[in-house]
Amino acid sequence: MIRFLTAGESHGKGLTVIIDGMPAGIPISIDFINAELAKRQKGAGSGGRMSIEKDEVEVLSGIRFGKTIGSPISMIIWNKDHKNWGDKMSVEDQSDEVKDSARITAPRPGHADLAGIQKHGFDDVRNVLERASARETTARVAAGGIFKQFLLTKGIEIASHTLQIGDIKVDSEYDFEDIKATYEKDPEIRCVDAAKSREMKQLIQNARMDKDTLGGVVETWAVGVPPGLGDYAQWDTKLDGLIAQAMMSIQSVKAVEIGAGVKSSGQRGSEVHDAIHHRDNQYYRKTNRAGGIEGGVTNGMPLVVRVYHKPISTLYNPLQTIDIETKHPTEATVERSDICVVPRAGVVSEAMLAYVVARAILLKL
Ligand SMILES: Cc1cc2nc3c(=O)[nH]c(=O)nc-3n(C[C@H](O)[C@H](O)[C@H](O)COP(=O)(O)O)c2cc1C
Repeated sequence: MIRFLTAGESHGKGLTVIIDGMPAGIPISIDFINAELAKRQKGAGSGGRMSIEKDEVEVLSGIRFGKTIGSPISMIIWNKDHKNWGDKMSVEDQSDEVKDSARITAPRPGHADLAGIQKHGFDDVRNVLERASARETTARVAAGGIFKQFLLTKGIEIASHTLQIGDIKVDSEYDFEDIKATYEKDPEIRCVDAAKSREMKQLIQNARMDKDTLGGVVETWAVGVPPGLGDYAQWDTKLDGLIAQAMMSIQSVKAVEIGAGVKSSGQRGSEVHDAIHHRDNQYYRKTNRAGGIEGGVTNGMPLVVRVYHKPISTLYNPLQTIDIETKHPTEATVERSDICVVPRAGVVSEAMLAYVVARAILLKL
């Protein structure tokens, strides 16, 4: 059974990931993984860091002569920004002067900052924010590059697009080819509708001017998924539950929806369920409101998963917080930050969905 773990701090030496349980003989292209990493670095709402980092993966183990060898795969993405941090992220002990120069005492609302120091009893918020940062998703995306290449050998493809930013929402029809094409046609917003994309971009520019932030919705499809993945028999093997857990773990995701999800709860059953047809020895549906899963099991239709990102927590007009040393009100710390993560978060959703589907396939095999 495959599983993966990530490690690394935002301004530490690098982000690492170990994937255990990948079968031997899967062809792996490092260029493919680097192309995935590049997708996470593009987008209209990005902050300054993307101009410092150009992420590239270094594979340390588990791949030989372009193929997996059945051993744990370990990979690292070095943080190019680390050298600018001097001793502030040093592994070795440092003087109080160095420690104080890196110390943060004003926890940012909406981040793990306050909850994290309360959990561990820290007097420096940096111990929390360095790991809670979504820089961690770099490692997930690298892992996703492996899972996606495995899925391609099974005829399964995954892609995402920006369905909504702020209150601007796509309402036109589209298919999987339209979704895939957004990486080429609209790398900044990744929207299937050019007019909506312009509106979304303007909205992000306005939020940037107002020193505010925006959330939105990413929709991810997996096509070519065979029926029968997941299980209806136990709560912890239902594929919809596993997808929800994986997607909800993405930083700033506050809701996960499969198929018509939220909308269907306000409709009648006759408007929601997908009638079953049969042709050429195959079952099929004319609609896919179930989003490819019924009873926790894939039904052969594309998986359709939406994640709802809240607006970014770091505000350039910071909210009030309490200094953990003085206990006096102060402004929240501002670490360099994005305005809207939605366009570049799509590839993170893809990586997590790729993981769940790859795992379910290997369990079935
Ligand atoms: C790709 C990506 C990039 C992110 N970049 C930022 C950022 O620049 N600034 C920020 O405040 N939050 C950013 N976030 C969200 C925070 O990491 C997240 O809101 C925070 O860790 C608290 O976790 P929670 O929102 O899941 O509760 C990003 C999220 C993703 C998926």
